[in-house]
Amino acid sequence: MDAGVDKDILVIRAQTLATDGSGVARSSETPVVFVPGLLPGETGRVRVVRRRKNFWRAQVLEVVSGFAGQEGQGFDPKGYVCTRQRPRCSVFGRCGGCVLQHMRYEDTLYWKKRWIEEALIRIAKVEGKSVVVKPVIGLDEPWRYRNKSVLHWDGVRLGFYGVRSHEVVEFTECLLLSKGMNEAVRRLKRDLTGGDGKGAQGAKGAQGAKGTQGAKGAKGAGRLSVTIREDAMGKRRVQGPHVLHGQRGGYLTYPVGELVFDVSLGSFLQVTTRQIQALVRVVARMAGLKGDEKVWDLYSGVGLLGLGLACDAGQVVGIEENVQAVRDAERNARRNGISKSCFIAGKVEDVLMAMDTEMVLEPPDVVIVDPPRAGLSSVVIERLLCFRPEKILYVSCDPATLARDLGRLMHVAGEGQETGSCYKITDVQPIDMFPWTAHVECVVLMVRVRG
Ligand SMILES: C[S@@+](CC[C@H](N)C(=O)[O-])C[C@H]1O[C@@H](n2cnc3c(N)ncnc32)[C@H](O)[C@@H]1O
Repeated sequence: MDAGVDKDILVIRAQTLATDGSGVARSSETPVVFVPGLLPGETGRVRVVRRRKNFWRAQVLEVVSGFAGQEGQGFDPKGYVCTRQRPRCSVFGRCGGCVLQHMRYEDTLYWKKRWIEEALIRIAKVEGKSVVVKPVIGLDEPWRYRNKSVLHWDGVRLGFYGVRSHEVVEFTECLLLSKGMNEAVRRLKRDLTGGDGKGAQGAKGAQGAKGTQGAKGAKGAGRLSVTIREDAMGKRRVQGPHVLHGQRGGYLTYPVGELVFDVSLGSFLQVTTRQIQALVRVVARMAGLKGDEKVWDLYSGVGLLGLGLACDAGQVVGIEENVQAVRDAERNARRNGISKSCFIAGKVEDVLMAMDTEMVLEPPDVVIVDPPRAGLSSVVIERLLCFRPEKILYVSCDPATLARDLGRLMHVAGEGQETGSCYKITDVQPIDMFPWTAHVECVVLMVRVRG
């Protein structure tokens, strides 16, 4: 490291990539430095913009060199060569969405796999070679894949939140959205600004829309959020304040393999339509059903995973807190002629606790869990260990909480008991549901090893 006259300017080399896509530079002279936009192996002249006790953050001023002077190539200590490419998006580095567009797509898949391996070792305490993480299933065409977009309006600008901020970053064309979705965004902008692009009427409209679902969660007067969703046929719906055009209510329809799913606007669906079938196939392969198993689908949404497996199961029970999604799941079961499924509306924690005392259902053979990013609560973990299904399939979009929960399911210590293994990991399959972003989906199969 070479300090210049300005104490905030450093010349540093990134050795690895953090899970938010920043290059990570470690040296004996500073705390660890996170540098968005710097690839492993690259040396950069950077400006420190934030100093904390244990880490600093810095901005790249200039990439000085790649590994061993090779132009444009980064490298990490494990020997993986990462190649820099020009980001396609004009707001790369400012928008909080695609933080990995400065490397090749195959490099992003390599790092996503590494993040999962490292989380399993560091957090789940899995021994290095005992679990093999399979290569990430990527997309052949990793652009224009999103079926849903949440946009933010600050009274003047319509766009996405910036990197680690609630500043709205505008864009002319988002390459994760279809051309039709981009056109819908431009129409929204015209609606909000009253067509003059200056924001006056939009701000008024936005104020008027305060308290609608679109405005929920947005901070400050005049701020609001709008969701646009598009189905496989390019049909779009808009969820937001009344000032906006677009169809409201009703369902959007998504074919997945042999099945068809109707999804209402308030219900969850995986955002990458073209990758949904890959996810369902992985779950079905890991479940390995023979025809008579009782399957629980916890956090079941519109029934995607449970119904995807239903033809090979004896019975499928879904549990989901969103009542509209439960209605969608029931509708989807009927629409696809599936009679051996039922869906329960409620929080997974509450329903599993009630089952403990009332034991309405027979214990499951296979349990699928697909919780939000926060992962499973200790109540759910405890209930799973109590019901002891033969297989637990964990579908996760957050490697850190996934690893935490796998660790809790593997290393169990009851009162007065020694720590022992209840479940072991036998399959780990990451799937890229969010190309160019720092997010990765992962399906893990755990099988019961004791009693
Ligand atoms: C990641 S989504 C998975 C949905 C579904 N498995 C799929 O693949 O489409 C998580 C779902 O869990 C639901 N959810 C969140 N917290 C919950 C809770 N405590 N109990 C029940 N459902 C919950 C959400 O409404 C959402 O539908």
